[in-house]
Amino acid sequence: MQLNESQRRAYLEAMGIDLWVPRDEDDSELAMDSAGSQQADASALGWDELRDCVAGCSRCELHSSRTQTVFGVGDPQADWMIIGEAPGAEEDRRGEPFVGRAGKLLDEMLRAVGQGRSEVFIANILKCRPPNNRDPKPAESATCRGYLERQIQLVQPRIILAVGRIAAQLLLDTDTPVGRLRGKPHQLGATPLVVTYHPAYLLRSPSQKRKTWEDLCLARRVAAEASP
Ligand code: URA
Repeated sequence: MQLNESQRRAYLEAMGIDLWVPRDEDDSELAMDSAGSQQADASALGWDELRDCVAGCSRCELHSSRTQTVFGVGDPQADWMIIGEAPGAEEDRRGEPFVGRAGKLLDEMLRAVGQGRSEVFIANILKCRPPNNRDPKPAESATCRGYLERQIQLVQPRIILAVGRIAAQLLLDTDTPVGRLRGKPHQLGATPLVVTYHPAYLLRSPSQKRKTWEDLCLARRVAAEASP
């Protein structure tokens, strides 16, 4: 099998082999960006290669405290892609996103609009758990971004549902509060994106469930409009 340069680097990375690049190679895929991250160029990877690459990733400090990476779960050709913030303790233990109490509520929310957990694709901004569930650092989300972007390219969803402030703000590159981002469709490149509250927040503030229901109905409408 012929490997291109980025595939070769991804394999070496996945195998834990250090790759040295010249200091002045400023177009390098491993170059530091302004957030001090080493963003992965995963743009040439297929699904299995991407999964292996994420599983072996050690590009940021989170790799040393994780139990395992949490790649994502569901149908790789789903119409709906759900994007959350980062794995929590239960997700880190089980290697699957949204499996704790918030995950159960997310499943119920999706079921209410006719989407089973196995029919959607669920991923997070970060593939590793931040210690004590702290917010992702800018360099961590920038480092992980290439993996998520490749997942979106491969799934090609009709709609992205961004759940919670961190996911919504990072995806849309804004600091506008969720309350002002929700309720209308956005675009992430060519893909429509709807923002809603995080299920963990809904567990604390059940009165916001009505607005979440409206967001899900909006997402369903936008996904239907995006159908061929
Ligand atoms: N919260 C998230 O944003 N993602 C998970 O996977 C679990 C909890």
